[in-house]
Amino acid sequence: MNVKDRLIIALDYSNMEDAKKIVEILGETVSFYKVGLELFLNSKGEMVDYLTERGKKVFLDLKFHDIPNTTTMASLFAAKQNVFMFNVHASGGRAMMESVAKKVKEINPEILSIAVTILTSFSEEGVKETFQSQLSLKELALNLAKLTKKAGMDGIVCSPWEAKAIKELCGKSFKTVCPGVRPKWSVADDQERIMTPKDAIVNGCDYLVVGRPVTKNENPVKAAEMILVEIEEGMKEAGVC
Ligand code: C5P
Repeated sequence: MNVKDRLIIALDYSNMEDAKKIVEILGETVSFYKVGLELFLNSKGEMVDYLTERGKKVFLDLKFHDIPNTTTMASLFAAKQNVFMFNVHASGGRAMMESVAKKVKEINPEILSIAVTILTSFSEEGVKETFQSQLSLKELALNLAKLTKKAGMDGIVCSPWEAKAIKELCGKSFKTVCPGVRPKWSVADDQERIMTPKDAIVNGCDYLVVGRPVTKNENPVKAAEMILVEIEEGMKEAGVC
């Protein structure tokens, strides 16, 4: 995987015009974008076509979570849209993920089916309050990662703080897609468990999802370039380039 393929810029915009503007500004510097619920709904899905028509890779971050049949039908839509990766909530369970992984590969063998374990905005206390579980945040995330792998999915969205343990548990080829990434020069915003791009790569993240440090920067191209340099440094340190 080359350096650029590892950086996914989160297009967290409420309208297509602003999203198109940042894609134009970033030009050839960035080749991979994440489209989440906000932009997908506000652009009535058109942002995905806009990006794929320009040769950009798309991570469709709609976090499907429903009964197996409904989630599979939604995932088949993603597969037909020519996206590079999409996701579901692992807490939807094994049957749901098995159905998604199998059916999607039948129509698009290249697409990456990813699951979300625990949102990176969760703190340890937040997890306890929500799930009333005796397990720690890390134990819960690892358990969901194992289930995802067993179900035949390609990888998970996780905090960079869990990526290493997840690789050890699920194997090297199991993909780790990591938000909660912040270069030293940027603010944490609402992310609780952050890591720098370089450390994230060294710690086993395959893909880094970065939003505001680039999109809200006064010089987005420079910010993306600085992150790409850090990713490259991380790859060198990890011996993966
Ligand atoms: O601006 P920032 O870099 O915090 O953006 C991170 C992106 O990753 C946002 O689009 C957010 O919704 C997404 N995300 C996350 N934590 C997850 C899954 C997705 O922050 N577990």
